[in-house]
Amino acid sequence: MASVIVVGTQWGDEGKGKVVDLLTRYADFIVRFQGGNNAGHTLVVNGEKFIFHIIPSGILNEGKFCMIGNGVIIDPATLLEEIDELGGRGLPVTADRLMISENAHLIMPYHKSLDHASEASLTSGKKLGTTGRGIGPCYMDKVGRCGIKAGDLLDPELFIDKLQANVDEKNFLLTQKYGAEPVSLDEIRSAFEGFAERIAPFIGNVSMQLDRARKSGRNILFEGAQGTQLDIDHGTYPFVTSSNTIAGNACIGSGFGPAHIDSVIGILKAYTTRVGEGPFPTELPEGDRIGDQLQKKGGEFGATTGRRRRCGWLDGVVASDAVRLNGLTGLAITKLDVLSGQPKLKIARQYRVAGREYDCMPGNIRETSRLEPVYEEVEGWQEEISGVRHFDDLPQKARDYIHLIEDMTGVEPAIVSVGPDREETLLLKNPFVKK
Ligand code: GDP
Ligand code: IMO
Ligand code: MG
Repeated sequence: MASVIVVGTQWGDEGKGKVVDLLTRYADFIVRFQGGNNAGHTLVVNGEKFIFHIIPSGILNEGKFCMIGNGVIIDPATLLEEIDELGGRGLPVTADRLMISENAHLIMPYHKSLDHASEASLTSGKKLGTTGRGIGPCYMDKVGRCGIKAGDLLDPELFIDKLQANVDEKNFLLTQKYGAEPVSLDEIRSAFEGFAERIAPFIGNVSMQLDRARKSGRNILFEGAQGTQLDIDHGTYPFVTSSNTIAGNACIGSGFGPAHIDSVIGILKAYTTRVGEGPFPTELPEGDRIGDQLQKKGGEFGATTGRRRRCGWLDGVVASDAVRLNGLTGLAITKLDVLSGQPKLKIARQYRVAGREYDCMPGNIRETSRLEPVYEEVEGWQEEISGVRHFDDLPQKARDYIHLIEDMTGVEPAIVSVGPDREETLLLKNPFVKK
């Protein structure tokens, strides 16, 4: 039995969906533990593409059980759309394949309205570039102790009581603070009656189920969303998401004890991307020839919002932060194929600002925005590598690049990904197999 956490090490979109799908082969239970449908996790299986926003990326593997933990926030309309879409593709999602924690909070229509209104009210430079999915306002209600939980859908009286209080307060904010349209209590009530009926069979106690799974020796895979630098506490605040994205939250966000975790795999894209606003020290801004090449070759458009992702060199400082904050035991290096054809590659080893040197991301946002990376330059490789399946068949320069990452982070690569398809992968060390 083993419990493995997969997290993003950068600013999201590192390829978590692909790696989780791959590792699901060895797992019995797959658990999302934070974030909401701001996530967009892409899987490509035999050339067919799937994007999951809320359902765990293990769902395509038959005989595996997926769970949405208490730390996740759920937009019921999106969840049902995703269930229906899978059903339409011949993959029915039933309650014997998916459980939703009764303690997961619900993203309500007013959360989305507030997300849009609050972003619109910010001046340029202050905007966060959120996904507009209501993430911040929903987590605010959770922490403010007025949120509505998935389990509340099963108790109509409690649900209406909470809804009424929230709609009163949110409509005041929407109309008086932001000059935006109010939401309609009746419309929300009737939509959510329909949602409740369909979602009820999925609602359960995820923590209890995980405990049973562990005690009966089953393998558990925790699927992180977003990335370490988007963590609410440890990321480039305020340009972050509203949940803890790092490995520690896998336990809190699912109700699983930390002593039962065996390994933590950090997904590291071979270069860096960021979507939305905020500091990005190694960015090659739009118009830069290499940055544009990475963007194009990597197909770097957001899986949730379709926005162009900003691209840049690999950032060793960001990688080291991720090693420390998540306690990484293995790396999954993704999109190595995108670097093929670059004559030179750069990796940031440190930052400098105003004569000071940093080996980690500074906490002060004004300093973070002015960081100058200190680069190490290495030779690139010209060969296309998507067809490679064994480490020793990679070009020497590609192997050198991986060894450099290993030396820099002190963490061994467990997986190298050379293309979007499930098969385009080198599994060097299976985290479910204990030493
Ligand atoms: P996630 O949010 O971390 O799951 O990542 P996304 O799905 O948002 O973005 C990763 C993108 O890269 C998706 O389009 C994947 O299909 C694609 N991808 C994943 N691994 C590789 C790889 O090794 N090479 C290439 N070329 N694409 C990859
Ligand atoms: P996955 O799981 C990349 C970014 C948004 C914005 C900031 C806050 O696919 O890696 P939010 O809507 O969460 O309040 O937006 O966080 N963001 C992501 N960027 N990948 C994601 O998820 C993201 N989820 C949120 O672009 O900058
Ligand atoms: Mg994504």
